[in-house]
Amino acid sequence: MVKKILLSLTCFIFILKLSAQGNIENKANENDLISYKLPKLLISNSGKKISTPREWENFRREEIYSYFANNIYGIVPGELNFQEVEVLDFDKNALGGKAIRKQVNLIFKKGKKSVIMTLLIYLPNKKIKSPVFLAYNFEGNHSVNNDPSIIIYRSKENELTDEKHEESRENKRGGRESRWALNKIIDSGYGLVTIDYNNVDPDKNDFSDGIHSLLYNFGQIKPAKNEWGSISAWAWGMSRIMDYLETEELIDPKKVILFGHSRLGKTALWAGATDLRFSMVISNNSGCGGAAISRRRIGEKILDINTNFPHWFAKNFHNFNENESSLKVDQHMLIALIAPRPVYVASASDDSWADPEGEFLAAKEASLIYNIYGKKGIGIDKLPSTNTPFHGSVGYHLREGKHDVTDFDWEQYIIFANKHFR
Ligand code: GCU
Repeated sequence: MVKKILLSLTCFIFILKLSAQGNIENKANENDLISYKLPKLLISNSGKKISTPREWENFRREEIYSYFANNIYGIVPGELNFQEVEVLDFDKNALGGKAIRKQVNLIFKKGKKSVIMTLLIYLPNKKIKSPVFLAYNFEGNHSVNNDPSIIIYRSKENELTDEKHEESRENKRGGRESRWALNKIIDSGYGLVTIDYNNVDPDKNDFSDGIHSLLYNFGQIKPAKNEWGSISAWAWGMSRIMDYLETEELIDPKKVILFGHSRLGKTALWAGATDLRFSMVISNNSGCGGAAISRRRIGEKILDINTNFPHWFAKNFHNFNENESSLKVDQHMLIALIAPRPVYVASASDDSWADPEGEFLAAKEASLIYNIYGKKGIGIDKLPSTNTPFHGSVGYHLREGKHDVTDFDWEQYIIFANKHFR
């Protein structure tokens, strides 16, 4: 009995000690004794306090960005632009006449290697430059809508022409329609630009294919420890698509909104942090390595993600397996890199693997930067109840239900975009 009391007393004193350590102190979970201390957004590595946009932009932002680049997602070790644009299809009478559909190949070449990115574009059938959502899809452009004119992409390795494969590809046509709310998007005056993320880098632990191999030095067979994993490669792909969108007369390049779900939500955040041309970023259920605070260790942890998906991040990130507290950053700082541009973080109530509360807290902490710009961040302190969206410069909602993208999510993104663009 005495032993038990002594043990509880020791635990109590331990927690008190941890709580006294800093001002951004959080407890991960009611029943969890693990406390964590977030690195401070507004204190530079040398201890300087940041209080103006200039101080933020001139050095604090850069030191945080470069830390994420070298230790988490990986730097892109060179430059490569598309050499050719091939227009495959242009139809002014798509989706029953209300949309323009365009399909385009962006062709990248280096030595004997090439990568082809096949874009599917739907735009409102109007004579104005449209704002667009730019988003990767998981299962091919033809999974996004039932439109029979969507070209089915066949990668070189996957050039199987037998009937069985043709049939299975056809079966996926429109298979992911419920995630895309395409009619809502078009009816609200927005376009959608999408591409299968495997076009840029196939999602497998193999660095011999995809865009990586086009930027290797002589004799190199995999990225160096601080170089790009697949998420960084996918983010790079978004920027190359942006290069093309800037030349597309039907699109307003000042209103390109990045959207991504799950691993592609992680990608959207990193792409938005890297490329300032994106004017808004939406991450849907992005979780570990996306919007969720890593130090909470709730749901998916760094060790889990690096074990199950060893190719997503830079090799350096593996140094932080079971070692989150030695990171000089946490994911609230990734969201902060997007400021002052509007950013939206969305969670789902049953998606405990992505740690909804951790996603919320990161969005809340990132709001400090928006305040420096004289903007309102998220505007709330506690995780809101389900289906109650908040649309400051930082948007947030906790949708009821599972890890997914639904019409409810899209409705919020369109309202958010309208609020900031119109
Ligand atoms: C896995 C992974 C997540 C990721 C998700 C997805 O669940 O652990 O980190 O977000 O896949 O991309 O679908």
